[in-house]
Amino acid sequence: MANRFPIILHHRLPILAGVHPNSSISCTQLLKRSKNLSSCRVPRRLVFGIGVSFWAQFMSMAGKSVTTSFIASARTKGAVEQILQNVEWPEQFPFKEEDFQRFDESSDLVFYESPRFVTHIDDPAIAALTKYYKEVFPPSNTPGVALLDMCSSWVSHFPAGYKQERIAGMGLNEEELKANKVLTEYIVQDLNTNPKLPFEDNSFDVITNVVSVDYLTKPIEVFKEMRRILKPGGMAIMSFSNRCFFTKAISIWTSTGDSDHVMIVGAYFHYAGGFEPPQAVDISPNPGRSDPMYIVHSRKQATA
Ligand SMILES: C[S@@+](CC[C@H](N)C(=O)[O-])C[C@H]1O[C@@H](n2cnc3c(N)ncnc32)[C@H](O)[C@@H]1O
Repeated sequence: MANRFPIILHHRLPILAGVHPNSSISCTQLLKRSKNLSSCRVPRRLVFGIGVSFWAQFMSMAGKSVTTSFIASARTKGAVEQILQNVEWPEQFPFKEEDFQRFDESSDLVFYESPRFVTHIDDPAIAALTKYYKEVFPPSNTPGVALLDMCSSWVSHFPAGYKQERIAGMGLNEEELKANKVLTEYIVQDLNTNPKLPFEDNSFDVITNVVSVDYLTKPIEVFKEMRRILKPGGMAIMSFSNRCFFTKAISIWTSTGDSDHVMIVGAYFHYAGGFEPPQAVDISPNPGRSDPMYIVHSRKQATA
């Protein structure tokens, strides 16, 4: 089972309902705990409430209904795949500034200053992701193939055989990136203070981001940058489970569930522009018995 308790202590924040701010917990646990938050003095919008009703409004505009049955239906086979089908995206960007606020607004570099040599999802979920990559990545011997793993750590989810090609990593902890055996180059950069990706236009075949899209506070800027640096037809693969460092995840994420997360990431692709309609895939290896794993992916339009 993945280690849920990374090793550094973080003293700046109030500890909510007995949850250590550095432990990654599932969103369901978080939503349950949120009911006990009324006594907690946190100088920000209490996400648990306003966000949900706003989100319900958005989902209904998008032709999806946020009902218990809709959320529960994500457990049914094929339900996740349907979430991004026939979405009527509202013309206006549906998110508000406060949707991207977090409990811990201190520098991300501080939160990630010590390495965490842990895994954030369990072994079956990691194996399911690697298997998925194997199916959709260009063959490893493709001339000039280049991959970028954003929000990278010491763990590689890439299939074996990709280590001879260009594999760039971006993250916040240099020791973790150095320990990542497959990276041929890495960059330490806080994407929330500088969303500009330090790469040439049209340079990557694939961009991955594993269990970290929920930490981006400027996702549209980052997704526009992803589009810029992808080769035409290049693929961006965002994967996530139901766990997070909740003090660092954005409020619209911590106040919603798995199906909503699929819509949120789908919306990032849509509103960034220049991507094909995003698609969702449920690659959860043993639903209910190991960590769930969802993918939202899209390709850069050939003409973008
Ligand atoms: C839960 S870990 C996941 C790491 C890795 N993708 C994996 O699957 O093991 C979250 C990652 O997001 C990255 N991250 C968080 N906030 C970030 C930011 N503001 N800028 C760049 N990377 C960030 C951290 O470096 C960290 O490695």
